[in-house]
Amino acid sequence: MRLVGNVGLVLLRAGAVLCHVRRLAVSLDTADIKSGTPLDGFLSYSIEFSSFPDFAGNKSTPNTFSDNLLNNIGYLQGDKPYIRVGGNTQDYAIYNENLTVALNGTVNVTRSPDYPTTIEIGPSFFESYSTWPNVKFSHGFNMGGNNDPRVQNTLTQTAELACKALGTDKLYVWEYGNEADLFATSAQGPVRPSNYNESDYVNEWLDGVAVIKSVIQKNCPDLALIDTYKYMAPSFGGVANHLKAPLTWANGLDNTQNIKYFSSHNYISGAATPGVTLQGTLMNHTRTTLSVEAHVDEYNAINPGVPHIIGEANSLYNQGRPGLSNSFGAALWGIDFALYCAARNIQRVHIHMGTNYRYASWQPVETPRATRGTKAPYYGNIAVAAFLGNLRIAPVRVAHLPLTGGDTEAAYAAYVGGTLKRVMIINMNAYNYTNTSSNQEHATDCGCDGSTGGPSSSGAPPQRPARAYSFTVGGGVTTARVQRLYANGSDAITGITWDGWSYNYELDQGRPVRLGNVTVGETLQVQNGTLVIAVPDSQAVVVTLGVADETLDRPSRVGRIRRA
Ligand SMILES: *[C@@H]1O[C@H](CO)[C@@H](O)[C@H](O)[C@H]1NC(C)=O
Ligand SMILES: *[C@@H]1O[C@H](CO)[C@@H](O)[C@H](O)[C@H]1NC(C)=O
Ligand SMILES: *[C@@H]1O[C@H](CO)[C@@H](O)[C@H](O)[C@H]1NC(C)=O
Ligand SMILES: *[C@@H]1O[C@H](CO)[C@@H](O)[C@H](O)[C@H]1NC(C)=O
Ligand SMILES: *[C@@H]1O[C@H](CO)[C@@H](O)[C@H](O)[C@H]1NC(C)=O
Ligand SMILES: *[C@@H]1O[C@H](CO)[C@@H](O)[C@H](O)[C@H]1NC(C)=O
Ligand SMILES: *[C@@H]1O[C@H](CO)[C@@H](O)[C@H](O)[C@H]1NC(C)=O
Ligand SMILES: *[C@@H]1O[C@H](CO)[C@@H](O)[C@H](O)[C@H]1NC(C)=O
Ligand SMILES: *[C@@H]1O[C@H](CO)[C@@H](O)[C@H](O)[C@H]1NC(C)=O
Ligand SMILES: *[C@@H]1O[C@H](CO)[C@@H](O)[C@H](O)[C@H]1NC(C)=O
Ligand SMILES: *[C@@H]1O[C@H](CO)[C@@H](O)[C@H](O)[C@H]1NC(C)=O
Repeated sequence: MRLVGNVGLVLLRAGAVLCHVRRLAVSLDTADIKSGTPLDGFLSYSIEFSSFPDFAGNKSTPNTFSDNLLNNIGYLQGDKPYIRVGGNTQDYAIYNENLTVALNGTVNVTRSPDYPTTIEIGPSFFESYSTWPNVKFSHGFNMGGNNDPRVQNTLTQTAELACKALGTDKLYVWEYGNEADLFATSAQGPVRPSNYNESDYVNEWLDGVAVIKSVIQKNCPDLALIDTYKYMAPSFGGVANHLKAPLTWANGLDNTQNIKYFSSHNYISGAATPGVTLQGTLMNHTRTTLSVEAHVDEYNAINPGVPHIIGEANSLYNQGRPGLSNSFGAALWGIDFALYCAARNIQRVHIHMGTNYRYASWQPVETPRATRGTKAPYYGNIAVAAFLGNLRIAPVRVAHLPLTGGDTEAAYAAYVGGTLKRVMIINMNAYNYTNTSSNQEHATDCGCDGSTGGPSSSGAPPQRPARAYSFTVGGGVTTARVQRLYANGSDAITGITWDGWSYNYELDQGRPVRLGNVTVGETLQVQNGTLVIAVPDSQAVVVTLGVADETLDRPSRVGRIRRA
C-alpha cells in the first residue's frame, strides 16, 4: 500500500518543552503505519431502543434538534450518521397492539436506574423511523425475551411493522439480539441458563432470523432479497464474556451468509469501576489502543470476510460517570477511540447514547435528570467527521502516527488518493481549569494557548502548557490551515467550540453558530519543509495541508455569525 504518494511525511514529536521544538524524530516507515479505510457514515450512532422516541420524536412532533446535530456531522463527512436502534432495552421490548403511546417503560432501579427493564411498544413506536430525512437505520429485534412468553409473537409482529416503516430507503441492516454473550450472566438479570453456549445461541439466532425472513418475504418482498436481507452480528458486549464470537462463527452463525457487518461493542471501563479517572482511563492512548486491539485480534481470528464495525461504544459502561463521561476530556477520548478504530480498519463506529446517559453526545429532551442540549462528546464526533472530510467525494485512508510522548497524546494522518491531506493531533494531557489548588506546579507558559503567559497566582489554575509538534511535508506544500477543538480545560462540560463553531441547543437548536471569542482562520507556513504546530494541553487540532480545501468553510453557508 502506497500511502505517501508525492508527499513525504515524518512526524517529529517535540519534547514536552513549552513551545520549544525539540525534535525527537520518529521516522515512519510506511510499511509500519497502521491504516484503514472508513466506510461512508463512519461516525455513526447507536441509540438505546427505549430512548429512540425521545431522540427522533414522532410524525407530529419530530425532534428537529437531533436532526440538526445529525446534519452537522453529515455535512462534514458526506453522509448523515447511520443509526442503530438497539441496546439492552431492545431485548426487553414486547409489542402491544393496543398501546396508545409509542413506548411504556417501567424502571426497576435494582435492575437499572437509567432505563426501563419492563417495556411495551405500540404501533406508533415505528413513527420514529420517519422523522429524520436521509438517515438509514438498523432495527434491533428482541431475542433475549426478558422471560416474557410474548416474545415469539413480538418477533413476527415487529418484523412486519419495522419492514413497512423502514422500506428500502431507510433500512440498512437488521439486528437480532443485543450482547447475547451476556444473556446468561447479565447484571440486569440473566435471561438464559448458565450452561447457555455458542451452539445454543447460533441455533436460536438462525431460527429467529428465518422467522423474520418469512415475515419480510410476505410483507416487504423488496427487503427479502439476497442483497437487502442483511444483519449486523453478533453484537457481543466484549471479547471475553460468556460466549465467544469465534465459536459462533465456527458453529455456523453465518451459514446463510446474511451477515453484512461483523459488529462488536466496546467500553473502555465501567462507570462504577474503582480507579477510573479521566487521565488514566480515558485520556490515555495506550489504554484505548489496547481496548481496540482486542477487537482486531478477535476479528482476525475469525476472518469473517465482511467489514468490521463497532456497533456500540462509549467511554464507561453503565451509561457513564458524571464529571468524566460528559467532560471535554471524554470528547478527546472519543476522537482517539474513533480514529484508532479507523486506523485499524474498523470501518464504522456507532457511538451509543440514551436519554439521561452521562456519556451521551446530546440530551434530546428536557427531563428532571438532564437538560436538553449538545454535550461535550458531540464536539469530539464533529472533529472526527471534519478530519475525515467528505467521504462521498473521496475515500480517505486513516493512519495512526506513533508518537513517543507516552499515554497522553495521539496523532493520525488522513490520506486522499495516497496524498497526505490532514493531520490530527490530540494532546490528552489533562488541564483542569477548575483546579484551583494553590500548591500546584506552575508551568511557565509561552502563550501558545493564546493567553498572555507568566506564572499563575495562588488560587488560580496553573498556566496552560502547550506542546509543539513538527512534521515535514514535501510535494510543494507551502501553507497549512489550522482548526482547533477548544475548551477551557479537560474538565469543561460547556463552552466548547470546533473551529469557532458552537452547535449548542440554546444558540440555534444545534445548527452551527460561529462564536466571536475564539481564534479562527489560523494558517501555518511551511518553513524549510517543516510545519510546526503548538497544541495546548487538552486540545485537538486538525492541520490541513494547503489552504484551498473545499470542505473547510462549508458550515458558514448554513450557519450564522454571532459575537459572544
Ligand atoms: C387489543 O384489544 C382488542 C380489542 O379490545 C382485543 O381483542 C385484543 O386482545 C387486545 N390485544 C392485546 C394484546 O391485549
Ligand atoms: C407524538 O409525540 C408527542 C410529544 O411527545 C406526544 O404528545 C404524542 O402523543 C405522540 N404521538 C403518538 C401517536 O404517539
Ligand atoms: C405501563 O406499564 C405498567 C406496568 O409496567 C402499567 O401499570 C401501566 O398501566 C402501563 N401503562 C399503559 C399506558 O399501558
Ligand atoms: C426489581 O428487580 C429485582 C431484581 O431482578 C426483583 O427482585 C424485583 O422483584 C423487581 N421489582 C419489581 C417491582 O418488579
Ligand atoms: C453446547 O452444549 C451442548 C450440550 O448441552 C453440546 O452438545 C455442544 O457441543 C455445546 N457447544 C459448544 C460450542 O460448546
Ligand atoms: C494508561 O493505561 C495503561 C494501560 O491500562 C496503564 O498502564 C498506564 O498506567 C495508564 N497511564 C496513565 C497516565 O494513567
Ligand atoms: C478538577 O479539579 C477540581 C478541583 O480540584 C476537582 O474537584 C475535579 O474533580 C477535577 N476534575 C477532573 C475531571 O479531574
Ligand atoms: C490539579 O492540581 C494538582 C495540585 O497541584 C496537580 O497535582 C494536578 O496535576 C492538577 N490536575 C490537573 C488535571 O490539572
Ligand atoms: C472559559 O474561560 C473564559 C475566559 O476565562 C471565561 O470567560 C468563560 O466563562 C469560560 N467558560 C466556561 C464554560 O467556563
Ligand atoms: C465563548 O462564548 C461562549 C458563549 O458565550 C462561552 O460558553 C464560552 O465559554 C466562551 N469561550 C471562551 C474561551 O471565552
Ligand atoms: C533546514 O533543514 C536542514 C535539513 O534538516 C538543516 O540542516 C538546516 O539547518 C535547516 N535550516 C534551517 C534554517 O532550519
